[in-house]
Amino acid sequence: MKYHLATYGCQMNEYDSAMIAQMLMRHGATPVLEPDKADVIIVNTCSVREKAEDTAIARIFQFKPLKQANPDLKIIIVGCMAKNKGEELLKRLKFVNYVVGPDQYRKIPELLFSPSRKRLCLLDFDSQENYVGESANLLTPFSTHITIQRGCNKRCSYCIVPYVRGPEKYRCAEDILREVSEAARAGVSEVMLLGQTVNAYRDGNENFASLLNRVSEIEGIKRIRFTSPHPRHYTRDLLEVLTQNSKICHHAHIPLQSGSNAILKKMRRQHDMETYYGIIDYLRSADPLYHISTDIICGFVGETETDFEQTLEAVQKVQFDTAFMFVYSPRRGTESFLETEILSENEKKERHTRLTEIQNAITLKRNQLMLGRKETLLVERASSRDAEEMMGKTDNFKKVIFKPEGIVKPGDYVRCKIDDIRGWTLRGTLVENEQE
Ligand code: 5AD
Ligand code: SF4
Repeated sequence: MKYHLATYGCQMNEYDSAMIAQMLMRHGATPVLEPDKADVIIVNTCSVREKAEDTAIARIFQFKPLKQANPDLKIIIVGCMAKNKGEELLKRLKFVNYVVGPDQYRKIPELLFSPSRKRLCLLDFDSQENYVGESANLLTPFSTHITIQRGCNKRCSYCIVPYVRGPEKYRCAEDILREVSEAARAGVSEVMLLGQTVNAYRDGNENFASLLNRVSEIEGIKRIRFTSPHPRHYTRDLLEVLTQNSKICHHAHIPLQSGSNAILKKMRRQHDMETYYGIIDYLRSADPLYHISTDIICGFVGETETDFEQTLEAVQKVQFDTAFMFVYSPRRGTESFLETEILSENEKKERHTRLTEIQNAITLKRNQLMLGRKETLLVERASSRDAEEMMGKTDNFKKVIFKPEGIVKPGDYVRCKIDDIRGWTLRGTLVENEQE
């Protein structure tokens, strides 16, 4: 059986897709890049904004002619939109066979190998389903993602995630450590721990800070990353570990959402600006180049011009290395969906444009600060622009393009002097005899 897997949305979905791929390959299936060569098409979807759902639906419609040409083709929708829209998808998209929510992925191989033509929707939450033993197929031979927490308990008033992914569940620490050790033995040196509010992790006496320390003790692991932390769960313990343990990379994606305390409260964010600035001050005093990225929503219900200006001020004050900036999208089923919006779509977009312009200038400035530095890069791949050049990342998650000398391959660590910037892209020169 040949399968084609298309993934939309966050890193959690990337991980889940890798896990589904692994389950299918264990059953003898092989991946294909071209959907028209597949016996099975799986679309892993996102629901976080309406646009994400529209994109996935448009993509799924493109598969309709393939199904008409080959009635045996099975099309399956998984991920957040599957859970969010459920039966409605089966009704609307008659050419789709199965709709499967995030806690039901173990059933996928059975469904796909079954001769039955019954169309099905499997959406139940399962509080026990942590996909233990299903370590996702390594994304690269040297770097891997591991989901340590699924679901979310926060219920921010705009967010659909808790409804589609269910309440928080944590994987047992021993399983996580075993999985990282196995990956390390197979040659992985970089690990990314994943969870919707990853730093809320707990398991018995273990918390996120202690888990990070234990992961760092695993032989072969050189770099530890994680995403996404929640500002509410940056404990003193955690801040100390983050700045003292040299294997934990100096990059954090800390969603801000808004710079106005009044809006943060309406969003039910469980943090205010004082807490947020406290975290940033701690991390940036330890390392002024600590990479901080964020998510910001523009035009949330009730956001006044003054609230928005406070967001602009916060962006200037923090100096984010990068930011994902979104226009507020009301999602049915969330608390804020019930509130009447005053801003028009254009007004929301206009705020988004203003914010983007300011942030773009800051991103450039933050990258310029890297000029002149000698950094260790983990080499990832050939550069997408020029196959004779390669791309590697610094500890603080900056991409650097360089010309390899001799044999340099993905997974190697090399020393580089960052000596140029083109657009936003940093460029470096290998520093001889300093290969690790
Ligand atoms: N509208 C716009 N952006 C949203 N996000 C979550 N829900 C919405 C929504 N309804 C953004 C948040 C979150 C990121 C993953 O998506 O910024 O951190
Ligand atoms: Fe959504 Fe808030 Fe949970 Fe993040 S913390 S997934 S924004 S509810």
